[in-house]
Amino acid sequence: MKLLKYVANLGYGSRRQVTEMIERRRVRSKAGVVLGIRDMFEHDEVLIDGEPLDPAPGAVVMLNKPPGYVCSTKGSSPLVYDLLPARFRLRSPAMSPVGRLDSDTSGLLLLTDDGELNHRITSPRTHLPKAYTAVLANDLRGDEGAVFESGTLMLESETTPLEPAKLEVLGARLVRVTITEGRYHQVRRMFAAVGNHVAVLKRVAIGGLDLGDLGEGAWRILNSDDLKALFTDFASPHKEP
Ligand code: URA
Repeated sequence: MKLLKYVANLGYGSRRQVTEMIERRRVRSKAGVVLGIRDMFEHDEVLIDGEPLDPAPGAVVMLNKPPGYVCSTKGSSPLVYDLLPARFRLRSPAMSPVGRLDSDTSGLLLLTDDGELNHRITSPRTHLPKAYTAVLANDLRGDEGAVFESGTLMLESETTPLEPAKLEVLGARLVRVTITEGRYHQVRRMFAAVGNHVAVLKRVAIGGLDLGDLGEGAWRILNSDDLKALFTDFASPHKEP
C-alpha cells in the first residue's frame, strides 16, 4: 500500500491532508530521510513530525471503561472513543468495540480494526468466557449457582436457554459470574430471572486476559502475549454437548 493511503487510513487525515503533510516533508524515516507518497516503507521506520506512527493495522486496544460511557461512535453521551486518541476513531478499517458493554457497566472493553479477530472473540461458537463482578441489590438466596450452571435458564422473551454459566460467591451480595455468550443485558437479566437486581456490574476478564493494573479510563495496546492469553489461559463453564 502506498504511504499516502496507509497514513490516511491510520486516521492522520484525508488523502489531501496527508498529501500536504508529505509535501511539507513532515513524514520521514527514522534515519531522517524525507518520504514521498509512493516510497516503500516499514511501519516502525516511519515518523511524522518526529513521532512514531500510531499502532499498525490489526491493533487491539484494551480499555478500562468507566460507567457512563457508551460503546458507540456517535451520540451526545460520553463515548468510549472520548477516552482514546482522536485519530483512533478515524481509522479505516474502523477501530470497533469487540462486543458491547452497557453504558452502566464498567471494565474490560476491547476495540480492534481487525474484523476477523473481532468475530473470533465475539462469535458464540468460540464460547470465550467473559467474567464479571456484580454487586447485587439483595442477598443471594442460595440456588443461583445451580440455576446458572444448569444450561436450562430461559431469559424472558428468548427461545433458547442460556449456556451454563459459573457463579462464584464472594459475599452475600457480591459475585463473580462467568458467561460464554453475549446476549443483550445478559448478566442483569440472569439475576432478574432469579429475583435479584444487579446494582453494579464490571467486566474483569475476557478469556485468559484480565484488566491487571489498568486504571479506570486508561487503555493500552495488547501485545502478542496478551493475545495468546486471551485465547488460551482460562477455564470455561462451556461444556461440549
Ligand atoms: N451483561 C450485562 O447485563 N451488561 C453488560 O454490559 C454485559 C453483560
